[in-house]
Amino acid sequence: MTQLEFVMIKPDGVKRGLVGEIIKRFENKGLKLRALKMIKMSKEQAIELYKEHEGKPFFDDLVNYVTSGPVVVMVVEGPRAVEVVRRMVGATDGAEAEPGSIRGDFALSKARNIVHATDSPEKVEREMSIFFKKEELVEDYEFA
Ligand code: CMP
Repeated sequence: MTQLEFVMIKPDGVKRGLVGEIIKRFENKGLKLRALKMIKMSKEQAIELYKEHEGKPFFDDLVNYVTSGPVVVMVVEGPRAVEVVRRMVGATDGAEAEPGSIRGDFALSKARNIVHATDSPEKVEREMSIFFKKEELVEDYEFA
């Protein structure tokens, strides 16, 4: 069953020049890009994206961090895309993430961990709609 998955390359990923590397991994895996853009997100968008963490000690730092510079948001599609992407992204804490995963290869921190990916299929629609209008997703297309 094909699924959509929302992914965001966070400001540290952009600043470290990892945008191409991260997109390449998803493309190499066979995931199809359906939407992609670079933005500077607003505080409102950050609070909405992370509202389940509101009240936690790291919440303000998280919101300040993801609004501190440009991010790249995208929607990818593929069979079981949510679990596939989450495995490719790796554990939240870069120090614990498996080598071979994005965080395992490029992060050492929990707070600055390069990339965000929606953690369950039920949440994808909500997270992606914070950044994309329905018509910004391209129609399905052939992909090798
Ligand atoms: P992300 O996958 O974007 O989802 C929530 C984010 O909150 C997470 O990645 C981390 O960047 C951040 N986060 C989660 N737990 C902590 C923590 N204990 N300390 C700091 N940041 C955290």
